[in-house]
Amino acid sequence: MDAANGLEAPQQILETEVKAFFDSAPPLQNCNEINEKLKEFIERNSFPSGNGKARRVVCVTSGGTTAPLEQRCVRYIDNFSSGHRGATSTEYFLKAGYAVIYLYRRGSFQPFCRSLPDDPLLECFEPTNESDIQVREAHSEAVKRAIVEHHAAVADGLLLKLPFRTIFEYLQMLQMIAISMRSLGPCAMFYLAAAVSDYYVPWKDMVEHKIQSGSPLLDVQLVQVPKMLSILRKKWAPQAFCVSFKLETDTNILLNKADAALEKYDMHAVVANELLTRKEEVVVVTNADKITARRDKSQSGADVEDPLIKLISEKHSTFIEDSNRSFK
Ligand code: PMT
Repeated sequence: MDAANGLEAPQQILETEVKAFFDSAPPLQNCNEINEKLKEFIERNSFPSGNGKARRVVCVTSGGTTAPLEQRCVRYIDNFSSGHRGATSTEYFLKAGYAVIYLYRRGSFQPFCRSLPDDPLLECFEPTNESDIQVREAHSEAVKRAIVEHHAAVADGLLLKLPFRTIFEYLQMLQMIAISMRSLGPCAMFYLAAAVSDYYVPWKDMVEHKIQSGSPLLDVQLVQVPKMLSILRKKWAPQAFCVSFKLETDTNILLNKADAALEKYDMHAVVANELLTRKEEVVVVTNADKITARRDKSQSGADVEDPLIKLISEKHSTFIEDSNRSFK
């Protein structure tokens, strides 16, 4: 323990790594514009909602980050995530009365658009004559729902969407969001469903131009991405409710890994999911219990995110009550 600032050595090492990561990252484009949008969004949602209680705001992260191999990027290492979990969860958070900052991978699933076909523009619409276009009957319900519900959320100032592609963009934006949400105290939540790169090439070590394919061996040094979860908890948003995810393909290790993440990163909850069954059931792991949320198979179109978000929002309510009590 360093008596001067009360930090333990591993925490200091992590902070040095985090600083090195941000110092070497290429500057975020549209940084000022993003800050303005965040400021306006948080201000708008800092007033009590219809029920007289403070509005809760959740940052949902969604989709996979990329780790570029070249500065003028042609090739990159990607992380598996379609964005379905984040997009679906966003819909249920909005239904539960939250305002949502949706930090998502460009091109991944979007809230309210899950039931649209892959190429909605070409598949949902058809020309009636040279100047008119109509929605195909088969897709009319899905298109109407997507447009009406999405527009309502955006018009009411309850949904802010911010896209990322690279690990650099993701972590810089997560930090900006966390800092801007500080004023919300315990009403803020982080729901970290994005699949975040574990390794990356630091910007300064990256070749500028496209790697040439002449050599039979590609020799690239990857450096570990510092886990930002504990920095988020301790530094960026110490009063917020934090939920992270644990994805494994081996169910035998899943719950132990979730337990370890809960403790190591001091999360309030870890959602444990297995790759093949992730749309059927998840386990919400907290210090108090492990609760399984299952999709209601008897209902067509039911989502596992329905019981999951109910459970998470109940846990968030208890957290807010406890935090308010300890401030009295
Ligand atoms: O998008 P879908 O196709 O619907 O799939 C959803 C999902 C399976 C991707 C999602 O439910 C999920 O589990 N997301 C987290 C996947 C993941 O990256 O797990 P992990 O064990 O590598 O990371 C655990 C946590 O640490 C995550 O919350 C991640 O945001 C965070 N992390 C990871 C690496 C890193 N360098 N820094 C981090 O903060």
